[in-house]
Amino acid sequence: MKNIAIFASGSGTNAENIGRYFSNSETIKVAVVLSNNRNVGVHDRVNKLGIPSYVFSREEFVQGTPVLAKLAEYNVDFIVLAGFMNKISDTLLKAFPCKIINIHPALLPKHGGKGMFGMHVHEAVVAAKEKESGITIHYVNENYDEGATIFQAKCTVLPTDTPEEVATKVHALEYAHYPHVIEEVLAKH
Ligand code: GAR
Repeated sequence: MKNIAIFASGSGTNAENIGRYFSNSETIKVAVVLSNNRNVGVHDRVNKLGIPSYVFSREEFVQGTPVLAKLAEYNVDFIVLAGFMNKISDTLLKAFPCKIINIHPALLPKHGGKGMFGMHVHEAVVAAKEKESGITIHYVNENYDEGATIFQAKCTVLPTDTPEEVATKVHALEYAHYPHVIEEVLAKH
């Protein structure tokens, strides 16, 4: 059994979707969810599935030691970011080399980098009059949204689409693909 930790900062619809997908798996378990926010939807969503969740401050994520201790407590082998808005510290990167992946709600290298998260990304896509957007699943390195790409999927952006409509299309791609990609990546580890 491989144990994964999900890091999430917000509503947690991806964390819930991943948790559900692996709930009956004999090879992968979502062991724990870590967040930098207490009052966000992710806790209820995953706790209902029987997955424990914990909150650490930004300083604790940066410093690393308390987070590493919690990951060790749950024998975590692999980390999945799902709407996690803090930077991943060097301490964590060193402890989990090539074992941290992220999903970005656009087609990187476009519309990525510091400050590009959630609706900001979809607003930028609409402002740039893009004809398509999508998802990028990638390894995490020391720079925002720059690690090696593992998988991309695209959706059409119509000239009339609002950022909210783009978000809905992108979320559908996230739910359809992220669990499968996690499964494929872990099969190689
Ligand atoms: C997702 O769309 C994810 O791709 C995005 O945040 C959203 C979280 O939604 N991540 C980023 O923007 C990272 N730069 P959720 O909390 O409902 O899963």
